[in-house]
Amino acid sequence: MYDSLRMQSVQTPIIPVVGELIRANPGTISLGQGVAYYGPPPEAGQYLQKFWSDPQNHKYKLVQGIPELLEAIEKKLAAENGIRLGADQRIVVTAGANMGFVNAVLAITDPGDEIILNLPYYFNHEMAIAMADCRTVCVPTDENYQLQPEAIENTVTSRTRAVVTISPNNPTGAVYPPDALRQVNDICRRRGIYHISDEAYEYFTYDSVTHFSPGSIEASSQHTISLFSLSKAYGFASWRIGWMVLPERLFMPIRKIQDTILICSPVISQWAAVGAMHAGRAYCEDKLHETREIRQLVLERLREIADLVTIPRADGAFYLLARVHTGMDPMHLAQRLIEEHKVAVIPGTTFGVQDQCLLRIAYGALQKDTAAEGIGRLVHGLRQILTA
Ligand SMILES: Cc1ncc(COP(=O)(O)O)c(C=O)c1O
Repeated sequence: MYDSLRMQSVQTPIIPVVGELIRANPGTISLGQGVAYYGPPPEAGQYLQKFWSDPQNHKYKLVQGIPELLEAIEKKLAAENGIRLGADQRIVVTAGANMGFVNAVLAITDPGDEIILNLPYYFNHEMAIAMADCRTVCVPTDENYQLQPEAIENTVTSRTRAVVTISPNNPTGAVYPPDALRQVNDICRRRGIYHISDEAYEYFTYDSVTHFSPGSIEASSQHTISLFSLSKAYGFASWRIGWMVLPERLFMPIRKIQDTILICSPVISQWAAVGAMHAGRAYCEDKLHETREIRQLVLERLREIADLVTIPRADGAFYLLARVHTGMDPMHLAQRLIEEHKVAVIPGTTFGVQDQCLLRIAYGALQKDTAAEGIGRLVHGLRQILTA
């Protein structure tokens, strides 16, 4: 039997591996998984009745999404993101932002093409590029995990098809300022390549830092692909709803891809999404009070071990990417933290960084009690392991 060499070369996601270690060590508090602590708003449940009230809803629907959801998304983009859809643009509802990314990569590349990711990258992006038989070209961010537009421009070749930015960022929590995103968008326009902008964490910013959508830049519509998701903001991770904004000319290829893989996003989830978007951003803002407090607590506790870890500025998402002052392998360190101190974090190697010991700390899934206990174990565990 022959098994794909291409798939063998795709990295194994670390989250399930850490998940197994957590199961093998009962009582472990996870600062690992990137999910919100809350579920969807009640409006999402109310809209499920709309789904059930029409027997036609059990049939296949349009690839791009149900009109009611497309309309709600279009209004939201104009009101919140400054993205006013032109006749030369489209929205396609996807089964989450990950699917939007796969759609984009398949639609704009041929085997052997290159996509530029900023390092540390989001592992599913790197995996999708490998699955499309393309090459990830990494450009390092600076010491605060901020974009380096000049380095990005110097990396563009005749095979480059896109530059990907994620703001607010997973795994670093960095939020890119409008100026840096404008520079990247301008590079893409001048060099005739796409800017893929992943905005899954758009609502998660702190300390009066705000989110900026490159799709709002004038004359960006023909080279910008914007990816959004309800997974984090509305506690919708299992419902699988996101969307992409794309130039009209990409609609045909993306329709072929999505029609083959998915046909349409689950219609029941699309109706729930219409309900969630009626609740609107205020729902997430309300939940964010608790996440803000937890973030403060986590940052304060980590200051106690400033001699052992550096925490670069992170104004968004619900991640911190700690630089640990050690030559230890980060997977080994993560394993010891679980086994000896019952706290789980994600090693930076999974985000493409091999030459430093980085640990991603996720605080979005926590509520106050567990957060205090979890971060306490991490601070204590790191001190014990690193100074023993
Ligand atoms: C940057 C980024 N994009 C996309 C996703 C996946 O989102 P979705 O659930 O919408 O596929 C995640 C999830 O962690 C993420 O961190």
